[in-house]
Amino acid sequence: MDFVSCLHRLLQNLHRPDIWRLRQTVEQLDCTREWIAQLVTQPQPPMSYGRNVVLRSDRFEAIVIHLPPGTETPIHDHGSSIGCVRVVAGTLENRVFTLKPGDTEPVLSSTGRHLPGEYVVIGPGLIHAMCNAGEEPMISFHVYTPLENTKQYP
Ligand SMILES: [Fe+2]
Repeated sequence: MDFVSCLHRLLQNLHRPDIWRLRQTVEQLDCTREWIAQLVTQPQPPMSYGRNVVLRSDRFEAIVIHLPPGTETPIHDHGSSIGCVRVVAGTLENRVFTLKPGDTEPVLSSTGRHLPGEYVVIGPGLIHAMCNAGEEPMISFHVYTPLENTKQYP
């Protein structure tokens, strides 16, 4: 069974997961470089990175992100959604921000570096940006639930 069919089947059986159940589910996928390579897209201007929605249902969105060296996503949140990210290639630098009441701009609070095979879980309301500070392309696989609009910050 191909990767997307397997993903579809696993998510169909997942109802209102908490963050750890979501991670367990993503861990069950055969998230190899070979499968994911077929789903990697090149940056489409004005975006500086590739973003391929590989599955979208009424409850889940699964995305493959391709950050070329030196690129980063905008600072954003995922509303009240939870998410799980698996790094597939390169080094993912995850910058986490906090926004104090009354402030308009988020402030950097921590930076984590994640290697292939590692997972990053995203809790409700988390503000972050993902960067590739390495010299190899960074490829990651993401699942979010439930579906909510993201918000970008200045
Ligand atoms: Fe994100």
